[in-house]
Amino acid sequence: MLEKLKDLELETLVKIEQAENMDQLREIKVRVLGKKGELTGLLRSLGCISAEERPAVGKKANLLREELENAIKLKEQVLSDKMKAEKWEKQRFDVTLPGRPVLMGQKHPLTLVMDEIKQIFLGLGFQVVHGPDIESDYYNFEALNIPPEHPARDMQDSFYITDQYLLRTHTSPVQIRAMEKQAPTLPVRVIAPGKVFRRDDDATHSPMFHQVEGLAVDYEISFADLKGTLLLFVREMFGPEQRIRLRPSFFPFTEPSAEVDISCIMCNGEGCRVCSNTGWLEILGAGMVHPRVLEVSGYNPKEVTGFAFGMGVERIAMLKYGVGDLRLFFSNDLRFLRQFG
Ligand code: DAH
Repeated sequence: MLEKLKDLELETLVKIEQAENMDQLREIKVRVLGKKGELTGLLRSLGCISAEERPAVGKKANLLREELENAIKLKEQVLSDKMKAEKWEKQRFDVTLPGRPVLMGQKHPLTLVMDEIKQIFLGLGFQVVHGPDIESDYYNFEALNIPPEHPARDMQDSFYITDQYLLRTHTSPVQIRAMEKQAPTLPVRVIAPGKVFRRDDDATHSPMFHQVEGLAVDYEISFADLKGTLLLFVREMFGPEQRIRLRPSFFPFTEPSAEVDISCIMCNGEGCRVCSNTGWLEILGAGMVHPRVLEVSGYNPKEVTGFAFGMGVERIAMLKYGVGDLRLFFSNDLRFLRQFG
């Protein structure tokens, strides 16, 4: 009997040692120590052995149960540690791997150009002001000396909301709003950036585009102030070698009026395809504020004068970055947009 116990001990210890997972271990436990297990069976047969042997065998059998239970517990611990280790191994990551780059957004090229324009004029003491995108006929046309039947309205084919309201065709109405708000205090020195809308759509025109309006009103503002301001702006924007040229023009809200060209940034004025061999590129309209415009806005044209200008932001961005098609600014193509900023 003792022999049998010894065999069972050895055999079971080996099996426990060899168990590879919890299931196998559980099976051994049931088979040896369970109610119908081998050790339990041996104990039950104690009745068949002699009275002298019984205490020794019984003791041995109890010790063996204890020993095997301990061995199983130990092995359980070992297996569970191993499982945990394997799990960690799977989850482990290499801290030396380079991080995944976070995709950063960036400013739209038109925003970059707008910011730069604002910065230049802020440096000259101008304030940034805004007007509404939906404008009344009065501010968009009438107050700017463009009466209902005036042919100048034809040049700005417009989106009307009602008879009296439209999507503003230029930022010039903000001149009136700024003066009305500030009159009669001086000086007025504002720029008004924003969206404008016209019924145009081709490689150099979009139904929505951006302008920056400028206005300065004070005692003794002269055409020379206008020219000096624009030259400084152009040199800050396109480089210190730039020259400007003013051509006589007509706008109902300025008198005299001029169209302003910069020396071609591609050929430096030599003449090339971009400037159609003229050496010059038109970038904005400007002039001395018309006395009637000053008057309707609350200033006395006999006492004060002013200059104004309006530029197209897309046009400046196209020249600055060498972009051939204006529609690229609005097509949301990241391959294009990522090149800026
Ligand atoms: N508002 C004009 C346009 O959109 C541009 C312009 C011309 C603005 C002359 C001015 C100016 O302030 O003085 O065509």
